[in-house]
Amino acid sequence: TDFEDVYRPQIHFSPQKNWINDPNGMVYLDGEYHLFYQYNPLGTVWGNMSWGHAISKDLLKWEQQAVKLYPDELGAIFSGSAVIDKNNTAGFGENAMVAIYTSSGQKQTQSIAYSTDKGRTFTKYSENPVIENPGMADFRDPKVFWHEATNKWVMSLSTHHTITFYGSANLIDWEYLSEFRYYDGGPYGIWECPDLFPLEFNGEKKWVLLVSTTNAPNGGTATQYFVGSFDGLSFKADPAPYPLWLDYGRDNYAGVTWSNIPDTDGRAIFIGWMSNWNYANQTPTSGFRGAMTLPRSLSLVQHSDNYLLLGSEVVSEIESIASDWNSVFTGTIVNESKTVEMGITAPPAYELEIEFSDVQDTNPVLELSNVHGDIVKIELDLLNGQLYFDRRNSGHVSFNFAHFPGRFSSPVHSGLDKIKLNVFVDQSSVEVFINEGLSCQTNLVFPKEIYDQMNIVSDNGSLDVNIGVRVFNSIW
Ligand code: FRU
Repeated sequence: TDFEDVYRPQIHFSPQKNWINDPNGMVYLDGEYHLFYQYNPLGTVWGNMSWGHAISKDLLKWEQQAVKLYPDELGAIFSGSAVIDKNNTAGFGENAMVAIYTSSGQKQTQSIAYSTDKGRTFTKYSENPVIENPGMADFRDPKVFWHEATNKWVMSLSTHHTITFYGSANLIDWEYLSEFRYYDGGPYGIWECPDLFPLEFNGEKKWVLLVSTTNAPNGGTATQYFVGSFDGLSFKADPAPYPLWLDYGRDNYAGVTWSNIPDTDGRAIFIGWMSNWNYANQTPTSGFRGAMTLPRSLSLVQHSDNYLLLGSEVVSEIESIASDWNSVFTGTIVNESKTVEMGITAPPAYELEIEFSDVQDTNPVLELSNVHGDIVKIELDLLNGQLYFDRRNSGHVSFNFAHFPGRFSSPVHSGLDKIKLNVFVDQSSVEVFINEGLSCQTNLVFPKEIYDQMNIVSDNGSLDVNIGVRVFNSIW
């Protein structure tokens, strides 16, 4: 059947065929999560940008729909968002689903399209574009939400090295509100795919601004975030000691949150594109190219130095495809490389939960490998509070030897006496969450077979380890 090809993710969304990049227009309506995405209907490399579409009831099992927006005389259909217009502010109908996207032709402008049949078909607004280009090469990726306090729609738009905010009463007539810039000494990346949304922390309403950018800490493209305040006019970032990243791995880009999540749920649900512009067009899959990260719930957590971090955890819906936990090892590892039997053969995908305690070793390592010698190393450097992900020998890496192989660092961000890792392994990805998602790394890998062997290495000391494994059913 379909979805059994080599490297085909078994618990992540990927298109049945052809190319995808950014998630677009994510919106919830009447029990359905809509996921639109940058899609090339004609091939497996970037081009002919259109909005593909899939629908899920649980954020995991997706049904692919017909392509919803094709290029037109204003240009290709670039990234954007979707909202539910409850009060019919635009005049397309009560509860119309309105998509706001970039028309990318001679110049980039913002356009809208609407659906009155729950996202099954869309009509482009006859007087597009709704925002003309003021003379900028980079002017794209509108993300819109309803700002209750000032009774208007607010759009975040990427404008080269800044984010510009616009406001509107009706999704059609937009006015400039303000511009957010943040210079940390450079090098300045191009800013793309912004998302501004509220999150509660200790009963206080904070605002988070996601910005995807081309100067990622580990190379290529990744998503930075700012925590601060928004008064309906401008966003102000709270001070942070250094740039903060939603994900320190190489393969989580252009992600944003779902709109119209019911108040009774209240989560900020995020999904990102699991690739990196450095090599996205060359990854060694055939028939399709590109996948999304696991859906994650975002929340604010206080760092011991008194600033707020954005934590990510896989959504609880994952339980519905998971087996029970199997405890595979509890014990002390002293000056050895300990092979731990995972008790799994050729699983579609699985999760490891590893707790290190009483750590008397500054550099414990978790190795995941297969019989072919493909190996991923997840190394802790407890003196410097870092976790490294090494995919240099992870399998197929030569499709882009300059950019794909590497060893990537991420801050552990918390007390080092006790460390918990949740590691999600699929056919061509590994997602590591550190201490309940205080920091994470998402990385593509292309092993000859899924890693099914594990070693815990403690070369210069000892640690107590507790390891659980659970397998997932395929979502297809
Ligand atoms: C981000 C991005 C967006 C743009 C889209 C084009 O990955 O470059 O800025 O809208 O991809 O496909």
